[in-house]
Amino acid sequence: MSQNILKLNHSSPQLLQFTDLHLSDKEALMGINCDESFAATKALATKFHHVNLTLLTGDISQDHSEASYQKCREVFRNQGHPVAWITGNHDDLSMQNDILSDGDITPIKRIVFKHWQLVLLNSQLPGQVCGNLADEQLAMIESAASEYPEHHLMLVMHHHPVLMESQWIDNHRLLNSDELWQVIAKVPQVKCIMFGHVHQAVDVTQSGVRVLGCPSTSIQFTPKQQEFSVDTAQPGFRHLELLVNGSVKTQVHRVEGTPFIADFDPAGY
Ligand SMILES: [Fe+2]
Repeated sequence: MSQNILKLNHSSPQLLQFTDLHLSDKEALMGINCDESFAATKALATKFHHVNLTLLTGDISQDHSEASYQKCREVFRNQGHPVAWITGNHDDLSMQNDILSDGDITPIKRIVFKHWQLVLLNSQLPGQVCGNLADEQLAMIESAASEYPEHHLMLVMHHHPVLMESQWIDNHRLLNSDELWQVIAKVPQVKCIMFGHVHQAVDVTQSGVRVLGCPSTSIQFTPKQQEFSVDTAQPGFRHLELLVNGSVKTQVHRVEGTPFIADFDPAGY
């Protein structure tokens, strides 16, 4: 496990999650200009003045271009608080490591607050849309909990570890989620899992763990559809407050009106 830990002393930290930015060198993704939808979502989040950490939960890039990560770097490098990230199925991890380590942007994967610790996991299976947590990633969960046994534990990953009741997206789930839940059963410190990938808001509880998905800052997928389908719901982000008692206060916020409507492309995204 990486020994690098970012220590922050906030008691009830406030977090922002932006996910699935799908930035690229090109103009649009299914008719949506992802630069503009991301900018609108980011602007909406400026109403939160006491943010302690921003999380970017994967698919930062759509096209693996350096330009896409450079755009992200320019937005977050002078954020005023730490900005951590993980890799998604669309991302190039070595490019992320090269470019997304500047100013406030940190490649660190363990963050420890006064009462909570976050472990940022890599669920990418190179070349595939679905995900998997390798043994060493699963081992990080138990070792993090044993290092800080009194801290509540939040896991952050790109792929969804619960079923979305949507066949096409569930084909692209975290494949070894059963193994993950077996680990979690032995680690009662785990209180919450955050993920991206599904381009929709999710807030469910499984085995006593709060499981939270987040709208994309780009295109949205329609919940509970068996075939690929894009939603008219608007881009958004998630705000979270991690409370001392291990519970999470959270809400999704979306761009107002309907400025971003994607073109349906049955070929997918
Ligand atoms: Fe995505």
